[in-house]
Amino acid sequence: MGIITKIILLLIPIGIAYLYFQVTKIDPIPHVEDAYWGPKSEQGKSEDVSIRPFKINISKEILDDLNARLKNELDSNRLVPPLENVGFGYGFNSNFLKKVGNHWLSKYDWRAREKLLNKYPHFKTKIGGLDIHFQHVKPKAKNGIETRPLLILHGYPGSIIEYQKMIPLLSEPKNSKYNYELIIPSLPGYGFSSGAARPGLGTVEMANIFKRLMDRLGHKKFYVLGGDWGAIITSDLATVYPDNVLGAHSANCLSWGLEGHIRNFLALTFRSFFASPEEAEHNWPTWGETFSFMVKESGYLHIQATKPDTVGVALSHSPLGLAAYLLEKFSTWTNRTWIDRDDGGLLENFGMDELLDNVMVYWVTGSITTAVRLYSEGLIPWSGINVDRVPTNVPFDCHALSGDLIVVPKFAISNKFTNIKRYKVNAGGGHFGAFEIPNIIAADAVSFFNSL
Ligand SMILES: *[C@@H]1O[C@H](CO)[C@@H](O)[C@H](O)[C@H]1NC(C)=O
Ligand SMILES: *[C@@H]1O[C@H](CO)[C@@H](O)[C@H](O)[C@H]1NC(C)=O
Repeated sequence: MGIITKIILLLIPIGIAYLYFQVTKIDPIPHVEDAYWGPKSEQGKSEDVSIRPFKINISKEILDDLNARLKNELDSNRLVPPLENVGFGYGFNSNFLKKVGNHWLSKYDWRAREKLLNKYPHFKTKIGGLDIHFQHVKPKAKNGIETRPLLILHGYPGSIIEYQKMIPLLSEPKNSKYNYELIIPSLPGYGFSSGAARPGLGTVEMANIFKRLMDRLGHKKFYVLGGDWGAIITSDLATVYPDNVLGAHSANCLSWGLEGHIRNFLALTFRSFFASPEEAEHNWPTWGETFSFMVKESGYLHIQATKPDTVGVALSHSPLGLAAYLLEKFSTWTNRTWIDRDDGGLLENFGMDELLDNVMVYWVTGSITTAVRLYSEGLIPWSGINVDRVPTNVPFDCHALSGDLIVVPKFAISNKFTNIKRYKVNAGGGHFGAFEIPNIIAADAVSFFNSL
């Protein structure tokens, strides 16, 4: 054996050890400042920390303007007819969009919907220069039943609307040893919460804002539930504030560091080794199909992460455009086979009115631009604080849903979540589980939180 061969043989294990070390490296928990996100002109002034009751009451001007725009768009003949027999294959089917628009203009009754939304109390409070809106539902005190605080976080393209049906199921669950006091905020930049005035408000920074919110409400320790961005903020809360989060229920447990990506790749490539049959069954049969599906479904993400303000212009001016852009996601993200249907299967799991409620939260607040900026702050690795390499030992219930875009196998997330108490793939429901099958999600969450 020549000297060169010997050196190579020696270098190979060193190289492998080095790579393994790099991939599995763990970072310490970062310190996150209580930062200020409001306009510069107000910085340094003492902040009004009061909690103000808030009622959704959209002005007549905004509603009249919406109706005029809708009427104009529907009468204009500017909607391009869909190709024949493509369903939702090229995006939102414009024949169905007309039906949505006509319902919105003639049947949808915002004042009645507003009344429903105001059934549970709303508040606003200033945190870090931003107006943070939240619903706060306190269960009626019952003898012998202790009440625990539960923070509930929505994602994109959702809002607090996703959780309305779950409120009674969670706040006073039947046959439960605990009641839950619910705090359901709008994410900064979404709906009735104001957006940041400068870059950098990513998910870890949002976790900081919600920790401050819970603190202000008197809850040093609390439970959390979330999906989509809400699940990522849940994960960040548990990672950065492990002493404050008592347990978390997540519809999208994700491990985004290099190790997580490698694990996910392994699990989806060598399924018999790294995935259970149920995890494998609900994903595409091959890695190639998974990848191609994700590319087809993620164009929005790229544009929102790079040019949020450009796409925001059109979406802030056209109600039909906004409805198509948001509601399209409720089709393939719920059931990928519905892409072939002319109506996208939208009314299989949702009512037209509740879908429009969700669109209205974006429209009446004009918040689509500030909302989609979260993709810039949350996805670009150099923006904001990154905790991908920081594991969390907080007890987690990772509740995946079979109709979601991807079912991430437990193996792929176990480096990030080191205390998964439950992992389940629910056979039914998709990305918007709480909105689609609220009874199942609520029952699972209650039994999990009760067990802690
Ligand atoms: C909504 O605001 C209008 C105008 O400020 C007011 O007249 C109306 O009473 C309010 N409605 C509710 C339900 O608070
Ligand atoms: C998706 O829809 C198909 C056809 O309607 C149905 O057989 C399947 O069970 C659905 N999948 C989920 C996850 O609901």
